[in-house]
Amino acid sequence: MQRELQIQLYKLLSALSLAMDYNRTGLMRHHQRVALLSLYLAGEMQMTGEDRMRLFCSAVIHDAGTSTFREKAKLEHFEVTDPWHHCEKGFALLHNTGILAPLAEVILHHHDRWDGNNRSGLAGDSIPLASRIIFLADRVDVLAQRPGNILDYREEIVRTITAHSGTMFDPDLVEIFIQVARKECLWLDLTSQYIDYHLQRRLGACPVIIGPEEITGISRIFAEIIDGKSPYTYRHSRLVAEVAAYLARRAGFDEARQKNMYVAGLLHDLGKLSIPEEILEKPGALSAREFNLIKQHTYITHLILGGIDGMEEINLWASYHHEKLNGEGYPFRIKGENLSPGSRIMAVADIFSALVENRPYRAGLPRSKVENILAGQVSAGAIDGDIVHLLVERYREAESLQQKINT
Ligand SMILES: [Fe+2]
Ligand SMILES: [Fe+2]
Ligand SMILES: [Fe+2]
Repeated sequence: MQRELQIQLYKLLSALSLAMDYNRTGLMRHHQRVALLSLYLAGEMQMTGEDRMRLFCSAVIHDAGTSTFREKAKLEHFEVTDPWHHCEKGFALLHNTGILAPLAEVILHHHDRWDGNNRSGLAGDSIPLASRIIFLADRVDVLAQRPGNILDYREEIVRTITAHSGTMFDPDLVEIFIQVARKECLWLDLTSQYIDYHLQRRLGACPVIIGPEEITGISRIFAEIIDGKSPYTYRHSRLVAEVAAYLARRAGFDEARQKNMYVAGLLHDLGKLSIPEEILEKPGALSAREFNLIKQHTYITHLILGGIDGMEEINLWASYHHEKLNGEGYPFRIKGENLSPGSRIMAVADIFSALVENRPYRAGLPRSKVENILAGQVSAGAIDGDIVHLLVERYREAESLQQKINT
């Protein structure tokens, strides 16, 4: 019997945040940077224990309400005219989620101005302190996004923040920021390649270890963020998770591994957050250049999940879903025996789900077509015939999973 999954909460959130940090220029590590800045401010304020952990967790996923490059581009300007949508969406994603529910309120207010005029109706001290800290850290990071040595322009950043003290930002917090900003190490940590290391060092011992239920809950949130990238893949990750866990059960996986398979299904397309939505939404065939971009998505899923101790097997199941038994898949070109039963299940679950779902250029396919396509892929040596058999043998059961996720 497989031991139940246990993971450090901060590691899971910090690693998954990377998936949200892709924009048109690449990987920005915005969430980790805002989390690090927030911890610097919290340190100066002697914030400890649960408050500090809640601040870190909120900061490292604060823009959970944005999935598309379009939305992210809007937030890259210092003054954002209408930031409320992503705050409210982040709140909606989190407020019913058990372990992360206490972060929902913080995220809802993370663009609230000190002087009011916020959609939330709050102003001044009534805005949660963690939200005020994240807002300031977030805007500092936006100002810090420029080429060159950050120490050359940190004073300019401090001046800009100070100019908005009492209007945008909590004046006491601005005073604290001015003190912290004197430390060169803050700016060097912030722009360092080793930000993971600095975060871990600042955070110190983090005793919060979570089990399967919480890990599934958090993965569900990320599945929604991934699927939010395009209206056409709405709930794709959920369906893949259901089908993969169902097939794992049919294939005799024990209960703990069925749950792991569900998590792997939720996260299999994590790397899609690095792909421009126009490509994901493109109705016709993809050009070679576009397909080359698509090919990076499982590579990035692999990279991100690879940073989470305890997720090794889940990672293999999730990130090999475009590999083929005949070695013609991507991006690792893994062949035959080197593809574990779990990875083979995920590949079948992904293809089946994509075929039965509606796409911009076609409706979900009927049973006869789905069966034909799957059989064709088995004969081509691409996917595992035994697993396809498990699926088509009780086709209606697999199909009913689609209704299950829509209710
Ligand atoms: Fe934001
Ligand atoms: Fe942000
Ligand atoms: Fe995929």
